[in-house]
Amino acid sequence: MLKVINVVGARPNFMKVAPIVEAMKRREREFTPLVVHTGQHYDAAMSDAFFSDLDLPQPDVHLGVGSTSHAAQTAAIMERFEPVVLREQPDWVLVVGDVNSTLACALVCVKLGVKVAHVEAGLRSRDHTMPEEINRLLTDQIADLLFTPSADADENLRAEGIPPERIRLVGNIMIDSLYKHLERSRQSRIKDQLGLVEKNYAVLTLHRPTNVDVSAVFERILEALKKISEQLPIVFPVHPRTRKTIAELGLNERIEKIKNLRLIDPLGYLDFLSLYSGARLVLTDSGGIQEETTVLGIPCLTLRENTERPITVTMGTNTIVGSDPAKITAAAIIALNERAKQPASIPLWDGHTAERILAALG
Ligand code: UD1
Repeated sequence: MLKVINVVGARPNFMKVAPIVEAMKRREREFTPLVVHTGQHYDAAMSDAFFSDLDLPQPDVHLGVGSTSHAAQTAAIMERFEPVVLREQPDWVLVVGDVNSTLACALVCVKLGVKVAHVEAGLRSRDHTMPEEINRLLTDQIADLLFTPSADADENLRAEGIPPERIRLVGNIMIDSLYKHLERSRQSRIKDQLGLVEKNYAVLTLHRPTNVDVSAVFERILEALKKISEQLPIVFPVHPRTRKTIAELGLNERIEKIKNLRLIDPLGYLDFLSLYSGARLVLTDSGGIQEETTVLGIPCLTLRENTERPITVTMGTNTIVGSDPAKITAAAIIALNERAKQPASIPLWDGHTAERILAALG
């Protein structure tokens, strides 16, 4: 019997941990899963909604750290997670993705000599100004087992000198959740509520500090959005960080003037899946959405200068456009005039990644 602590902290963690915990519960004679929530995200819309949508059991332990600076947040998670590990004495701790909770909990484990596995290892943007890149690099250096989503991630790890026996190519865990919930998401009424016509609208998400904390960059993106919104309506579920910076940078009025750009509150997993799966085009600076649109064959423009997920560009529907309005608009026009794209078939992005992870732990 293996006791496994599964760590969640921020929104993009929930859909990665849910299929793993579910698979462990199915094999209850072999695994005892615990869920520890660091509380990095805490709003109902950023956290609670995902537990119910994804059938993720309520956390066994909630560390309640909340939002502060990166250093203070990382330190608070470490301080509060250490006694949990000491008390529970798990056989494994599983961390996912690249948020501050991922690195903080991995660091606690390695210092205590408790085995830690990193799910979604090996992704690299090579951009050290991204906090997530630092979290990815350091977590992969210290974790005992590295579960990678694609062969490019294995290559990155080998190039950093990580021994092959620590690396396991298991596929993309987020796609387990996507396939499991796609059918159920069709019951969502979100598109009707917003008066949207299938394949005749765009979806936008924006929350990277490099885009939303800098007025000049945010304004350049708005210029592009204004042009694109003349072609089709854009729906924008607004991350709380972005909501805050819009007010701080005094951009509310400018945004209100873009008639066809509709700001809404952040959505839960099922409503958001329903929304983007029906979209003609997605514009985003998220990492995971590049992968989800690739699997569904929806054109995606990534409003960043780089990606740690290059396979979504080489095999999928993703185009990296940065924040230059001319480049964003030109790419949008191309995407809108193209024939419908086919869903990409990437090896091991098949809905069975959780089973492969369990097989490697067991
Ligand atoms: C974090 C992750 C990022 C991930 C993103 C997904 C790190 C370094 N960043 O960024 O990789 O893509 O989550 O959402 O781990 N806030 C709320 N309610 C919440 C959470 C946040 O109001 O439930 C507000 C707070 O004002 C907070 C700000 O959003 O200061 C930013 O939150 P934080 O967790 O620091 O970073 P994210 O931008 O969400």
